[in-house]
Amino acid sequence: MAERTYTMIKPKSVANNNIGNIVARIQSGGYKILGMKMVQLSKQDAEKFYAIHAERPFYGELTDFMSSGPIVAMVLEKDNCVADYREFIGATNPAEAAEGTIRRDFGTDIQCNAVHASDSLDNAAIEIGFFFSNRELVG
Ligand code: CMP
Repeated sequence: MAERTYTMIKPKSVANNNIGNIVARIQSGGYKILGMKMVQLSKQDAEKFYAIHAERPFYGELTDFMSSGPIVAMVLEKDNCVADYREFIGATNPAEAAEGTIRRDFGTDIQCNAVHASDSLDNAAIEIGFFFSNRELVG
């Protein structure tokens, strides 16, 4: 069944001019882009987006990093999109990500792991709503 997920290209990959390379990978993987925008998160935005990790020791560094420069936010659609896309981008830690995955090829460490992806259908809906209104999505 067609599902939607939320993904974003993280600041370091934007700064390294990898937007085009990552978008090309996503499209050639069969994911339809329903919405896309480049924005810079405030520290407060990043804290809200990653609130689920508030108790984790890396929360401060992660939210500093995610608000350090522009990100590219996208909504993707495909059958079984949430689970398939997580497998497609590879493990959270680029060093453990399978060959040929986005995180393996464009990530440098667990924090700068190229892209974020929603971890469930429920969180995908929340994360899509964080960045996009319905009229910003096609299809
Ligand atoms: P992401 O998919 O954006 O979701 C939460 C992020 O927290 C994750 O990718 C990593 O970038 C980051 N993260 C997860 N575990 C660690 C860790 N042990 N140390 C630093 N950052 C982490």
